[in-house]
Amino acid sequence: MTLLSSAIEPLQFRDALGHFASGITVITSQFNDEPVGFTCQSFYSVSMEPPLVSFSVMARSLSYPKIRKAGRFAVNILANDQAAISNQFARRGDDKWRGVQWQTSPLGNPLIDGSLHWLDCDIHAEHDAGDHRIVIGEVKALNPARGATAPLLYFKGQYHNLAE
Ligand SMILES: Cc1cc2nc3c(=O)[nH]c(=O)nc-3n(C[C@H](O)[C@H](O)[C@H](O)COP(=O)(O)O)c2cc1C
Repeated sequence: MTLLSSAIEPLQFRDALGHFASGITVITSQFNDEPVGFTCQSFYSVSMEPPLVSFSVMARSLSYPKIRKAGRFAVNILANDQAAISNQFARRGDDKWRGVQWQTSPLGNPLIDGSLHWLDCDIHAEHDAGDHRIVIGEVKALNPARGATAPLLYFKGQYHNLAE
């Protein structure tokens, strides 16, 4: 049945969006020497020239105000064996980085060891959108990480990998 937007129930909306399969990223930054980050599915490419990418972050995110102050972020595209990293960075609190190995990117953002690829970005623009904020980043550096070859996938609330 097709529903008018005024009749969209949050649970139905969530369920509908769950049918869109994607990779998973952790958006990271560093402010006052403190690494910050959160798990993020809403990453996508925006522009080739200049190279722009985007994600949306909930307005009540604890990490984003720090990322905003830093003015830059890294996109860590997770590899198929990093579901635990995805879960760890989806929690609120300060212990997200416990046991996580990382290096510093050219812009000064944390790069999580074992990720599939990373992009280093300056914040280019922001737009408020409902209970989220759309953040657009200009890509300044990027590189595949060493070793990992397959992505972590997310579909209908579950992790998957390409081999299945
Ligand atoms: C698979 C997955 C995808 C997620 N995608 C997003 C997202 O796109 N944007 C967002 O704001 N939160 C997303 N979250 C939720 C945040 O990771 C979670 O709320 C986290 O605790 C936020 O941390 P913070 O308060 O430190 O920013 C996702 C969580 C999971 C498990």
